[in-house]
Amino acid sequence: MAQTHVETSDARYSPKLITLDQDRRILEVVWADGHVSRFSFIWLRHGLFFPSLGRPEQASNAWCLLPELPDVAIIGSVQSENGLIEIRWSHDNSVTQHDPVWLRDNCTSIEARRARQPRPQLWTGADAARFDWFEAVELEDPVTRLEILRHVRDRGLAFVRNVSVEPGTVMDIAGYFGPVRRTHHGSLFNIRSLPEDRQGPRVNIGATAANAQAPHTDEGFRHATLGIMLFHCLKPDPSGAGASIFADGIAAAEALRQSDPEAFDFLTTTSLVQAAERNPEERFRTRGRIIATDCQGVVRGIKAADRTLPPVDLPEDKIEPAYQALRAFLAHLYAPERIFEKCLEPGDLVIFDNQRVLHGRRAFDPDAGERHIQQVSIDREEFHNVFRQLAEQLGRFDLANWEPDAGVLSHA
Ligand SMILES: [Fe+2]
Repeated sequence: MAQTHVETSDARYSPKLITLDQDRRILEVVWADGHVSRFSFIWLRHGLFFPSLGRPEQASNAWCLLPELPDVAIIGSVQSENGLIEIRWSHDNSVTQHDPVWLRDNCTSIEARRARQPRPQLWTGADAARFDWFEAVELEDPVTRLEILRHVRDRGLAFVRNVSVEPGTVMDIAGYFGPVRRTHHGSLFNIRSLPEDRQGPRVNIGATAANAQAPHTDEGFRHATLGIMLFHCLKPDPSGAGASIFADGIAAAEALRQSDPEAFDFLTTTSLVQAAERNPEERFRTRGRIIATDCQGVVRGIKAADRTLPPVDLPEDKIEPAYQALRAFLAHLYAPERIFEKCLEPGDLVIFDNQRVLHGRRAFDPDAGERHIQQVSIDREEFHNVFRQLAEQLGRFDLANWEPDAGVLSHA
């Protein structure tokens, strides 16, 4: 085994000892803080081809941007050069240079990879009642915005108060977090109650009505369903009714896993149709799982909307299990302890992940006066792109270096 000693000063990012194991094709780095990374030769070799790692001139004429087969790429020697780890490849005499900071931040050990993938922090209604609220004026501060992004990533929601009640302000606020998504509803959606005789065609989706709405996620009938939602209260119901409801759907799915593993397995492995044909401009249909898990089995997204679930399209022997599983999940979604309920004040704004957090409302009297909330959404990938950019700008590489799972689009 060849060994190289490297002199640097920063413990976490300082390679103390580098060893080549030619038999296993592994470059082992012992860092000054004691952590050990084992980098596969072929993984390091990939750095020569991946344009984001800063060597586009080497890759520009290449047709294939993947490295050779693993048993072809052989490291001849390794040394420290201007704070970088320089590798000489014996099979083609090429040289690659590797930033120790990048290597350590992308260490492929089980524990390092696990630490980079934050798991959802589950919450109950009582927990949510204790969550801190951000002030609108703080949105100017990028550090606060990063905190909001982190709250949405980890808890699925964040609260802001004292936002201007000028109609359309929610579009400006959304601009801090990513481009607003446009759908057949347009970009800005009004949830604005009207007296019964004037409720119009939107009454069938509750936008102009005053009926209670059980906790649900929005628009599961889309293949790429809505991601991050912003609800901005302009006018609450004057009678003090019509409270908004939020619930942690991932916590409900985890509770289902415990109480009824069969139902959990069914909903994580069976595709069900969701559809919306409520108005002439809607002929949406898609098929997908109600609970999406990642490759480690962690719940990463849910679709929870009984009103967009038509009679299930499954073989006969799966039909009763489907309804049993759906009812078992709904029982957890609707559990009173899961619900955070609040009459939003003028200027309150809630940012939440529609693929995790359910929303709903209590009934109110539309004749008591107008209740008006404005709503926009941002695609999850755009939101997380802003998150990583901001984290990087603020030097929070621990927050920048992770990937969200694909949410309800993910497949185990
Ligand atoms: Fe909704």
